[in-house]
Amino acid sequence: MSLMLGRDRFGDPINSGRTLSREEANSLLDEWVINDRLKLHMKQVAALMGDWAREREGAGVEKAWAWEMAGLLHDADWDQWPDEHCRKIIEELEKRQVDPEILRAIASHGPAHFGVEPQSRMDQMLYTFDELSGLIHAYSLMRPEGYSGMELKGVKKRLKEKSFAANVSREDIQDALQRSGLEQDDVIHFIIARQGRVS
Ligand SMILES: [Fe+2]
Ligand SMILES: [Fe+2]
Repeated sequence: MSLMLGRDRFGDPINSGRTLSREEANSLLDEWVINDRLKLHMKQVAALMGDWAREREGAGVEKAWAWEMAGLLHDADWDQWPDEHCRKIIEELEKRQVDPEILRAIASHGPAHFGVEPQSRMDQMLYTFDELSGLIHAYSLMRPEGYSGMELKGVKKRLKEKSFAANVSREDIQDALQRSGLEQDDVIHFIIARQGRVS
């Protein structure tokens, strides 16, 4: 089974700047995603994307929401339609006339799976946060104190331990960091400092 999207253009440029409202995005999430862990993953990635856009890209309210929305819906179809992962949510958001930038970020969150290269900063950061956020959350679950007192070196140790959260692709993490040109420590710090607040 292939999840390759087989195309490189998403949405219509005429819809540039169009997002769903927060209410619409949340109700799509609630409707499509039954698994609470997956829902939490998407909320965590959404919060990281919004924070990054504001803090590192100087984004205003609208742009930060576009980033956040890409994070919030990137795996929306994974729970109920894993064979159609990515294709289904993209088609749905195309129908709803969403900004092509958001669609492309979602389409490129796993270049090895979907065959779409992350290009923009939004694309790169969604790809970068996706697996790292998951690994750090898995680590928080095995720590009695959760996120509190979590240190960089603990995360790096788990990253090297291939049997830990084995479904988290270390290759994707390295590939994403390389493409975004960011220091691994910087991104890990960024996640540790924020992710515990999302529940
Ligand atoms: Fe995914
Ligand atoms: Fe994900």
